[in-house]
Amino acid sequence: MTPDISLATIIADTDLPCCIYNASGPRCSTEEELHAIGESVAGAILSKSATLQKREGNEKPRYADTPWGSINSMGLPNEGYEYYAAFAAQASQYDKPYFMSVSGMSLDENVKIISDLENYEGIAGIELNLSCPNVPGKPQTGYDFEQSRHTLEAVFAVTTKPLGVKLPPYFDIPHFQMMADVLNDFPIAFVTCINSVGNGLVVDPATEGVLIKPKQGFGGIGGDFVKPTALANVRQFYTLLNKNVSIIGCGGIKSGQDAFEHILCGASAVQIGTRFMQEGTPCFERIVSELTEIMQKKNYRNIEAFKGKLKDYQS
Ligand code: DHB
Repeated sequence: MTPDISLATIIADTDLPCCIYNASGPRCSTEEELHAIGESVAGAILSKSATLQKREGNEKPRYADTPWGSINSMGLPNEGYEYYAAFAAQASQYDKPYFMSVSGMSLDENVKIISDLENYEGIAGIELNLSCPNVPGKPQTGYDFEQSRHTLEAVFAVTTKPLGVKLPPYFDIPHFQMMADVLNDFPIAFVTCINSVGNGLVVDPATEGVLIKPKQGFGGIGGDFVKPTALANVRQFYTLLNKNVSIIGCGGIKSGQDAFEHILCGASAVQIGTRFMQEGTPCFERIVSELTEIMQKKNYRNIEAFKGKLKDYQS
């Protein structure tokens, strides 16, 4: 890293040495994978979304790369929340915070997991996932504003830890305001925008079939095509939420330029999903050096110098 340029940031009152880290999902399910993130230049470690019990997830193949990103219907395979909570003790060896993603199969499960996490130290914050699109028969909480409010009331009653939410993408202007009105009534630490664009369909003309086995091929879309939607969600929530809420950008980031655009829209940190799946931990170093180069050219010493400062159209 260039010595006079810092990519440091603060999320949930915790210092991150670098504003770039992994999205929950790819390569963050096992201790080995979490250690690999710890050893990389990523600025934080984020776990796979945890449920109360260990889950095998959906049938394979359940992830596929496409020319413009990825499609997945993993179905929440994970080791169960106690495994990820126990990793907090090991994460303390790294000079970066450890965040846990929680995605209970019901409100009761979320409450049970989040209240039990009170017994663990070393978890810098909880990213409550309101947007898993891949469990058959389970609608995404984030698309039901009343249910989202109900969920936040229940979980904030049982936690003292910083808590943020991972949101699905919204596509209609009134929906941004409706979700912001819910979130602004709670002491939310951060909001991560966006989860995958749910239930897309990728078709292979050669086989005349779909790319993944679960759900007749329907799955969450990530990568290049979701970046404009991700930027729109980052920008909207940066504008609409209480000013002490950090926005974490996620969606279509594969280069320093993509990270720069997310930060311009208001992101205090960015997460890498599809590209981390494809490239592994070297993507963090590459994106850090590309972002640093852009900042050097523009004479920005830190991300505060341009965070949120997106300009309106100028003729
Ligand atoms: C899964 C996918 C998601 O987009 C998410 O937020 C949580 C879990 C999954 O299929 O495992």
